[in-house]
Amino acid sequence: MTVQGQKEKPDMARRRFLTRATTVVGAAVAGTLAVAMVDSLEPTAAEEAGASTVVNLTPIEPGMQLTVPWQKKPVIIVNRVPDMLTTLKMVEAKGLLKDPNSNVPQQPPYCKNQYRSRKPEWLVMVRICTHLCCIPHYRPKKASVTPWWLGGFHCPCHGSMYDLSGRVIKGSPAPHNMAVPEYTFAADGKSVTITKMYPKAHLC
Ligand code: FES
Repeated sequence: MTVQGQKEKPDMARRRFLTRATTVVGAAVAGTLAVAMVDSLEPTAAEEAGASTVVNLTPIEPGMQLTVPWQKKPVIIVNRVPDMLTTLKMVEAKGLLKDPNSNVPQQPPYCKNQYRSRKPEWLVMVRICTHLCCIPHYRPKKASVTPWWLGGFHCPCHGSMYDLSGRVIKGSPAPHNMAVPEYTFAADGKSVTITKMYPKAHLC
């Protein structure tokens, strides 16, 4: 499922995310702040206060994503399959990335790696384009955006492109890779707790 708002102004795109449940794929948020497949994605009072959010990972099937509201921001969680991880090496080898090694601190130090994550298969990322704050579309299928497309995120506003770890493609107006928040996995690996923004990261 894609995010509504193609060709919209950035503010409108974000607003629509926060007001429509149709932007969410599946139900997977658990815990006291549970929000999933609800009629509204307005942030709760607790979220506005900066509380952590616990997300149940078990309903997110391989290759699929779930986008949840967290601190008034959309956070996308992608269950990446091995073929998707292979594309990360390919975009690097082709020299397509502005910041392939994530040298700009758009992620916590423990996510400064090729996957930009704690575990290769799980991407946890703030789904906000670093150009002007639009919400990029999730486009995992090869050639779905351009003939050379290997999968990733495409921003509808001004065409920024990112790979499947949120690293921005050269030629995009977006200056940086998308931000990764601070998070931890449960010991059994079945849920993730999104705790806070990494202080050095810029959203847009
Ligand atoms: S907001 Fe301009 S390309 Fe994403």
